[in-house]
Amino acid sequence: MVVQSLTLHDFRCFARAEFHPAPGLNLLSAPNASGKSSLLEAICVLLRLQSPRAGSLAEAVRHGRAGFSVAGRANDRALACHLSRKEGRKLFLDGLARQKSDDYLGLGLVSFFSNEDMELVRGTSSKRRRYLDFLGSQCDAGYLKNLRSYERALRSRNFLLKEGPHRGRELAAYDAPLITAGEYLARVRGMLCAELAPLVADAARAISPRGEDVTLQYAPSGTPDLAAALASAAPEERRLRQTVVGPHRDDVSLHLEGAEAGIFASEGQQRTLVLALRLAQASLIRARRGTPPVYLLDDIFGELDTERRRRLLAALPQDAQCILTTTTWQWLESAGDAMQWAILDGAIIPAS
Ligand SMILES: Nc1ncnc2c1ncn2[C@@H]1O[C@H](COP(=O)(O)OP(=O)(O)OP(=O)(O)O)[C@@H](O)[C@H]1O
Ligand SMILES: [Mg+2]
Repeated sequence: MVVQSLTLHDFRCFARAEFHPAPGLNLLSAPNASGKSSLLEAICVLLRLQSPRAGSLAEAVRHGRAGFSVAGRANDRALACHLSRKEGRKLFLDGLARQKSDDYLGLGLVSFFSNEDMELVRGTSSKRRRYLDFLGSQCDAGYLKNLRSYERALRSRNFLLKEGPHRGRELAAYDAPLITAGEYLARVRGMLCAELAPLVADAARAISPRGEDVTLQYAPSGTPDLAAALASAAPEERRLRQTVVGPHRDDVSLHLEGAEAGIFASEGQQRTLVLALRLAQASLIRARRGTPPVYLLDDIFGELDTERRRRLLAALPQDAQCILTTTTWQWLESAGDAMQWAILDGAIIPAS
């Protein structure tokens, strides 16, 4: 997957900007608050219609403007996403408007590394579900459709449970879609985790000079037999007035040398694990889709010691497009063949 060009209008701090990244390694350096994270976010929005940092895309609309536009070429296809506060989202693929996002999302492959990723190890299970969902939507053709239908059924069920026991009969109408989509998600998540486990262990060995033993395991809630789990959880869900089992309660357990990583691993070990999760995610996308995703690494080097920085750079595949940002590359001995970029007055320009 190669992004050939990107044009932004009213996206975060950019009034209008263009970027023509090289197919291989791109190193962007710019001071704080110059738009590095915004630029990588825009590439993620172009390819996946999703922001790695904002809950809602509307947050990315430049202050005081009515909407943003992100357009570009990737793998010789023209992609565009316009978002207006009034009219919502509009998508274009090769110049034609698309009502549904399925074909559009079938193209873009991304692995995003950010310095908020520590939450993957330390944070709540929702962060790890989001990681699996981002992966699942790029590796499995039915994943997003089932995720949306699960979320719809879950919202309706929770609404009725909140209303009270008199809505019990209506509740049953949402069990079938919840169970079908929920069991699908659990099946795919289980397979993804089984494939991820050895990739995470390999990546952790590649980055960490100490070579810790890392294990990853899917920790499902209420599946494989979601119908039976819902039936036995019925008294508790009436009491708590919400759906208490199902993939919205799934987790991924991460252990380092046999101990729970979120609690016992050192800061450096947690960092290594997080990078390993991202590298493994990218490797799995490549294995499933036959082509590497675009690697977007947003300013994560400041957090790493020199040895880990060097090892991470060496772990990036030579044949993938990688776009890395930081405030300074002074620590880098040689940029090799990498294309170097800077941001000056809101313009992304080649750096000498
Ligand atoms: N919706 C928005 N409209 C206008 N400006 C915004 C919007 N969202 C963020 N900004 C501003 O855009 C600027 C660039 O933010 P960004 O996070 O991309 O910078 P950065 O180069 O990654 O900085 P850092 O090195 O601190 O991470 C900041 O000044 C930020 O306040
Ligand atoms: Mg930033």
